[in-house]
Amino acid sequence: MTAHKQTWLDALHHASRQLREAGIEAPLRDARLLLSEVLGADSARLILMETDPVSEAELDRFSEMVTRRAAGEPVSRIKGRREFYGREFQVGPGVLDPRPDTEVLVDACLARLPRGGRLLDLGAGSGCILLSVLAERSDASGVGIDISETALAIAQTNAQDICPGERVAFYLADWTRRDWTDCVSGSAFDIVVSNPPYIPSADIADLGRDVRSFDPLLALDGGRDGLDAYRRIVSAAPGLVCPGGWLIFEVGIGQAGDVTALVAAAGFSDLGALRDLTGRRRAVIGRRPESRG
Ligand SMILES: C[S@@+](CC[C@H](N)C(=O)[O-])C[C@H]1O[C@@H](n2cnc3c(N)ncnc32)[C@H](O)[C@@H]1O
Repeated sequence: MTAHKQTWLDALHHASRQLREAGIEAPLRDARLLLSEVLGADSARLILMETDPVSEAELDRFSEMVTRRAAGEPVSRIKGRREFYGREFQVGPGVLDPRPDTEVLVDACLARLPRGGRLLDLGAGSGCILLSVLAERSDASGVGIDISETALAIAQTNAQDICPGERVAFYLADWTRRDWTDCVSGSAFDIVVSNPPYIPSADIADLGRDVRSFDPLLALDGGRDGLDAYRRIVSAAPGLVCPGGWLIFEVGIGQAGDVTALVAAAGFSDLGALRDLTGRRRAVIGRRPESRG
C-alpha cells in the first residue's frame, strides 16, 4: 500500500485547526489567504491546486506564516501588503496598516479637490490617503508629512509604485514642534487631510492584539483625551489651508462633536461629518472662508 502524500488541502485543514485553537476569528479564510500568498495563486486557482502534493520549501514558508498569524499578526502584515482604495500598498513594521474605513477620507478629498489642486496629508503613514487621491487625479499634486522615518520610507516606496514622478513629496516633521510647518512654508493647500493618532492613551491597553502589538504606538496614541493631534493641527490649519479650501480629519468613535468644535473655533465653516462603511461618523470637514474684498 502506498503512503498518502500530503496535499495542500491537508495542509490547509491543519493550518485552519491551528488558527482556530489560537482564537483567530476566521481561521479557514486566513489560512486560504496565506496559502494563496505562498503559492502565488488566486482563490480560484487555489481550489484547483488543493489536491496537489505539497513541496517542502513551500510548506515550510506556509507553516511559518501560519505560526505568525496564530500569534496574532494580521494577514496584511505577514504578506507585507494591504489593498486600499483598489490599489496595493506596502506595509511593514513602523507604519499603520491602512484601514478600509479611511477610504471615506479619499472620497471626501476627491469630491472637493479643484482642478490642479494641492493636497497636504498630515501623518501620511504608508501614504495611502495622499497616493490614492493622486492616483485618481493626474492633475493634482501633494505633500505628505510624518514624524516617522520608517513610515516615510514606506510611503516613498509606495509612491514609486502608485504615483511615480514629481507630483508628490514627503517630508519629515513633527507637529508638536513650533517650527513644524517650515517644510511647507509659503504654501497653502486646497485640502489639508489627516488621519492622526486619536486613541486616548488609557485605552491603548484595551485594543485588540492585532492592533496593540503590531501598529506603531506613534500612529495610535492621541494623548489623554485622544485629541492632542487635532489641537496641534487645527492651530496651524488657517495658515495651511487656502481661502475656500478644506480641512478633513478622520475621527475616532465619539470624537466627531469635539473635533467639529475645534475646527469651528479655528474659524472654519461649512462644517460636517461623513460616515464610514459601518455608518459611524468617521470624518469631520470644515471649509476656510473665502477672503473678503
Ligand atoms: C493613524 S496614523 C495614519 C497613517 C495613514 N495616514 C493612514 O491613514 O493609514 C497617524 C500617523 O501620524 C504620524 N504622527 C504621529 N505623531 C506625529 C507628529 N507629532 N508629527 C507628525 N506625524 C505624526 C504617525 O507616525 C502615523 O504615521
